[in-house]
Amino acid sequence: MRRAMPARRSATRLLAMAGGMALGLLASPARTADVEYGKHLSAECITCHGASKSDSTIPDIHGLGEAHFVEVLRAYRAKALPNPVMQSIAVRLGDEEISALAAYYTTAKRPK
Ligand code: HEC
Repeated sequence: MRRAMPARRSATRLLAMAGGMALGLLASPARTADVEYGKHLSAECITCHGASKSDSTIPDIHGLGEAHFVEVLRAYRAKALPNPVMQSIAVRLGDEEISALAAYYTTAKRPK
């Protein structure tokens, strides 16, 4: 069992860090590496979040703000958001992977 409180505190700290990094590292080589890594990791997400279907109930995650993206994935990971599918996916992601995915998806265009 994961204890919710410490995770929540560190989430706030990391969110602040991620915000600072996003400001400082825009278009830097480290930033580019992050986006590339995120693209690589997104192979797992494409099955569900890839193609646009008008009847789909799966939300489009392309172009989501980075802070929101990180916050939401951390919430699924901590089981603070109820969706079991996203919980089981997020529980396997580390902080660096979530940051990289956020960096990628914030600029990524949804494939047509
Ligand atoms: C098996 C299908 C499936 C896969 C694979 C999947 N997702 Fe999801 N995802 C969903 C569903 C369904 C929801 C909506 C859940 C809800 O209503 O709470 C969702 C919601 C989300 C949201 C919240 C969007 C919002 O606007 O709040 C994010 C962010 C997200 N997924 C990211 C990812 C990432 C990153 C991956 C890959 C590591 C991934 N998902 C893989 C099905 C999937």
